[in-house]
Amino acid sequence: MKVLFASSEIYPYSKSGGLGDVAHSLPLALKEQCRIISITPLYRFIDRKKFRLNSPGTVCTMSIAGKSYTYELFRSEESDTLFVYNDVLCESEALYGYDNDALRFGLFSHIIADVARKMKVDIVHLNDWHTALAALLLKDDRVKTVFTIHNLAYQGIFDKKVLKKLAIDKKYFTMEGLEFYGKANFMKAGIAYSDKITTVSPTYAKEILTEAYGCGLDGFLKKHKKKLKGILNGIDTTFFNPQRDSTIYVNFDAAHIENKVKNKKEYYKKLGIKKREKPLFVFIGRLVEQKGISIIIDLLKDLSMEPLELVMLGEGEQETEKKLSILSGKYENIHYIKGYDEALSHRLYAAADFLLMPSLFEPCGLNQMIAAHYGAVPLVHSTGGLKDSVFEGKKKCIQGLVFDPFSKKECLAAIHRALTLYRDKKAYIKISTYDMQCDVSFNKSAKAYMKIYEALL
Ligand code: GLC
Repeated sequence: MKVLFASSEIYPYSKSGGLGDVAHSLPLALKEQCRIISITPLYRFIDRKKFRLNSPGTVCTMSIAGKSYTYELFRSEESDTLFVYNDVLCESEALYGYDNDALRFGLFSHIIADVARKMKVDIVHLNDWHTALAALLLKDDRVKTVFTIHNLAYQGIFDKKVLKKLAIDKKYFTMEGLEFYGKANFMKAGIAYSDKITTVSPTYAKEILTEAYGCGLDGFLKKHKKKLKGILNGIDTTFFNPQRDSTIYVNFDAAHIENKVKNKKEYYKKLGIKKREKPLFVFIGRLVEQKGISIIIDLLKDLSMEPLELVMLGEGEQETEKKLSILSGKYENIHYIKGYDEALSHRLYAAADFLLMPSLFEPCGLNQMIAAHYGAVPLVHSTGGLKDSVFEGKKKCIQGLVFDPFSKKECLAAIHRALTLYRDKKAYIKISTYDMQCDVSFNKSAKAYMKIYEALL
């Protein structure tokens, strides 16, 4: 079986969030079971030399709506990844956020369809709206398509004018197709025309059928419910491995938890914190509403009076960044580091006693799994993939602190439970070491994807 796995971002070449991580680790886990080739744009900021891409690439041409487009295909020496270069798609400074995103990713979808036909693959696995039009383009082909929704909140909604440029026939611009309040909705194309839809956790698969989480597409998804399945993500446990991770101060595992503590000591030293017995909470993530950032900001005053240190690493909405900078200057035990730094995030997971992850909604979430693997006990809101992977008082998957409903009061109560747990050193270490040994790899889920591919053939 030959699978083409398409994503607009793949770590370490490009990444804006969890999609990039999953597009790296899922194909890796599937490699044992099928022939899987990934395809992603070769953005200008990707270093061709560093990733040893063959050069020159193979030049291909396509004719779309009477216009000729060229793209170049590059292969990497180190992974089964195809990089596509087309000037419209790849010449931007960042991944997304441009006026011509519809054309950029519409072209990417055309390229995916073209490559799938040329390579005669059996399955095309599409991810999120950036690749969704390929499901429509391939709907009458022999190839089967799987469409994975990583986050329904981002749908790719554009002026319908772009459809003409992309040679998408008017007959698809209907309620059953990709029409959405007079606009073109790329995600709808993925939902309507793929052979199977998956999303990244069983709970999120249920949630998106409700008005509260459906982002306007709950009714539409309900119509395609038979095709929909939730499969929990995993992480690449070779990459996220505290025993080998070269970016952390001291390596450790569940049998040598005393070495984990050395990471925290080092980090506290760096921050100039004297009272080293206080627990360290970390928040790592994009500063957007989804991540529950409003609750955290509301809580900071209360937390400034608690015996804990909180370190937040992330970037996002400017207003939030500003607020966090001001508040961390005001409260001694609250620290905000603006930006994103992969190595630093590893050091924080290694040093932390708890991960704070109060997401308003979370399709799957990966940070709770990474944290658990590094012995940092997650504190989460019970939603989406967090609900499926973190349990309080139950030895099921990851053990942590879970709060519900989504409110400052409930979150604070969970933080108090975390502090009580931490005071009982033995009980805390038992949970932290239990979490480190949980299977958070992609193996189980890769099997579930394999089953889906097989059932389609
Ligand atoms: C998105 C979701 C996140 C999920 C990730 C990978 O970033 O917001 O919850 O873990 O995709 O599927």
